[in-house]
Amino acid sequence: MGDRLKDKVAVVTGAGRGIGRGIALLMASEGAKVVVNDLGGAVTGSGASQTPADEVVTEIKKMGGQAVANYDSVSTTEGGERIIKTAIDNFNRIDILVNNAGILRDRMIFNMAPEEWDAVLKVHLYGTFNCTKPASLVMRQQRWGRIISMTSTSGVIGNSGQANYGAAKMGIVGFTFVCARDLGKYGVTVNTIAPGAGTRMTLSEEVMAARVIRAQRGLSASPVQGTSQQVQGPADPEDVAPLVCYLATEQAANINGRIFYASGGNFSLFSNPEPIRTLYKDGRWTMDELMRLMPRTLASGLINPAPPQAPEPPKPA
Ligand SMILES: NC(=O)c1ccc[n+]([C@@H]2O[C@H](COP(=O)([O-])OP(=O)(O)OC[C@H]3O[C@@H](n4cnc5c(N)ncnc54)[C@H](O)[C@@H]3O)[C@@H](O)[C@H]2O)c1
Repeated sequence: MGDRLKDKVAVVTGAGRGIGRGIALLMASEGAKVVVNDLGGAVTGSGASQTPADEVVTEIKKMGGQAVANYDSVSTTEGGERIIKTAIDNFNRIDILVNNAGILRDRMIFNMAPEEWDAVLKVHLYGTFNCTKPASLVMRQQRWGRIISMTSTSGVIGNSGQANYGAAKMGIVGFTFVCARDLGKYGVTVNTIAPGAGTRMTLSEEVMAARVIRAQRGLSASPVQGTSQQVQGPADPEDVAPLVCYLATEQAANINGRIFYASGGNFSLFSNPEPIRTLYKDGRWTMDELMRLMPRTLASGLINPAPPQAPEPPKPA
């Protein structure tokens, strides 16, 4: 057991399984008192069970740590408020919030039902707001806090078949940039991590089948530049936890409004978006000018991640 998070109170959403479980265990082993939140449903978000959260609480207590379970859904305002209240009621404060709960409803955009769009945004994007809002009230008053939310390369880079998930995850990036500026002066940092790990979210039969189809259509997600993601295969979910815990320490006080990547032993800092090429004119561009200039300036060398293909020949009847 370490003491780098001694006297801190942490809430980890979706901590009953996968990456969240690893974060809750490491935070507890570094001395934090942990609220283990998990709705306990299927990867699509259906159903509920108290077992995953209870099991992680038992694991933490067995190793001598302190933890309490919460089974609320992050996807409602009341759920988010109750999750944060669980920390206050049991441990009198909240210092660290990890917005980690997540589900998937993958579908190509032309097949996506509004319900599939809503369900994913509700858990990831609304869930991040629903917990951050009540936590920020306390953190601002105590002038200390750490908020770390899970984004994804599916949004930051893009991944076919995940318009709902990618939109929610990039929403979390924008949310992080703004909250970092809203809360920084109160000693609260807000960062986001795109993890990569072998969990039911990445290894389920349905997800693996979709990955094969994407690869066959030449639509595989781009590996993150400079990482060994492709050769290593899926990393352990527990590998993400050290970076999350580091961002929660005192030493990370000035890391604010950043996007990281974490998979296995590979931690990266993403660049924050900034213009890389500019066309400037004192006035409005004409279409004639753009037709002439774009190919040699802003559009020069750009690669289409999914270039047009000839339609597949009809299958024999
Ligand atoms: N595994 C990866 O490679 C990967 C990649 C990119 C992003 N992520 C993100 O990391 C986070 C953790 O994913 P994981 O791979 O550990 O998945 P996981 O399915 O193993 O764990 C997610 C947990 O969230 C819980 N959950 C779902 N909906 C909830 C809700 N409404 N309220 C409370 N809890 C809820 C689930 O019950 C589950 O235990 C997610 O936000 C996911 O989008 C994971």
